[in-house]
Amino acid sequence: MTTTLITNIGELRTVDPEQRVIRDGAVVIDREQIAWVGPAVHAPAADKRFDAAGRALLPGWVDSHTHLVFAGDRSAEFEARMAGQSYAAGGINVTTEATRNASDAELADLIRQRVAEAVAGGTTYLETKTGYGLGVEEEARHARLAADYVDTATFLGAHLVPKGVDAAAYIDSVTGPMLEAALPYVDWADVFCETGAFSEEQSRTVLRACAEAGLGLRVHGNQLGQGPGVRLAAEMGAASVDHVNHLSEDDVAALGATWAEWDSATASGTPGTVATCLPACDLSTRQPLAPARRLLDAGVEVALASNCNPGTSYTSSMNFNVSTAVLQMHMSLSEAVRAATLGGALALRAQEWVGSIEVGKRADLHLLNAPAAIHLAYRPGMPMTAAVWRAGRRG
Ligand code: NIG
Repeated sequence: MTTTLITNIGELRTVDPEQRVIRDGAVVIDREQIAWVGPAVHAPAADKRFDAAGRALLPGWVDSHTHLVFAGDRSAEFEARMAGQSYAAGGINVTTEATRNASDAELADLIRQRVAEAVAGGTTYLETKTGYGLGVEEEARHARLAADYVDTATFLGAHLVPKGVDAAAYIDSVTGPMLEAALPYVDWADVFCETGAFSEEQSRTVLRACAEAGLGLRVHGNQLGQGPGVRLAAEMGAASVDHVNHLSEDDVAALGATWAEWDSATASGTPGTVATCLPACDLSTRQPLAPARRLLDAGVEVALASNCNPGTSYTSSMNFNVSTAVLQMHMSLSEAVRAATLGGALALRAQEWVGSIEVGKRADLHLLNAPAAIHLAYRPGMPMTAAVWRAGRRG
């Protein structure tokens, strides 16, 4: 048995270059790949048949920003924040200590559970980061464990200078032995470019060294205030800049300029720097929601991601992020679905094989408990995920 026909799909949202929405659609999966997409009346025969019973089918969510390698709990910090305290990056040290004290087996188990939770919520392609190790052995250990469970991993040694450590010496370590030790396990490097974390010059030094080592780049930028992160990401040709809560007109224009060689209608050309919005994090830290509308209107590709982490966004629910984007961020349903699928794929430069329902792409599919995808926002918080296929296998 190699092929499965998923038929009787009430609303099939392909997120393909034609942005097709097919009523009464069908998809054929051949092992790990999508083999056919179209109206059910024209569907070819297959070995097995799955009746979608009139429900909506989307590409699986692509979650391009998570921090799943952690131990411990920061619910007290969250509760204090809800009572009026502001978010401070120093909380990262609390998680670093708890994570350093967890064994390989404990950490692996935690990552496995978190990935399973994400997949149960419709996520089929997942990035995660180091960044709670903040030392050579620990960052390498976290990268190695992450790489076993996610599709692509990111080195975030430059998350915070650990307490009591000299910043210059720490950057020498991040760009030297730490990078070398993490390198075999990661595809990306990231830096938290923000007041209280790393300055523009420090961030540029880290990004340059990581690019020279062959890693793709991403930046945590403009999360807590205006700053240089977004423009630095654009200057360095980063694949994404994430958070983007506080943007000047120059920031938006700098990101827009990176998309000059891209045709967003057909999703072809050379991609620029994706603006990754993290609505669950914005709510949990009481930051203004990222200005997705301004970014889209300036021609920037936007991604939506969960930022699942213990400090600022302890949820991997992409359904929640998509609902919030539609309800609160002035994104249309189509824009939000695209941002949480193809947008994430672009942020991970994985758009050739995931992020849409097209022949030849990985069979990553998300069946909703609803006849149409608008129910994600129409019925927020309801259990919307009915079934998930990840690389052709039921998740
Ligand atoms: O993406 N901003 C930096 N890093 C995480 C938060 C980490 C933490 O507080 O533990 C984020 O929000």
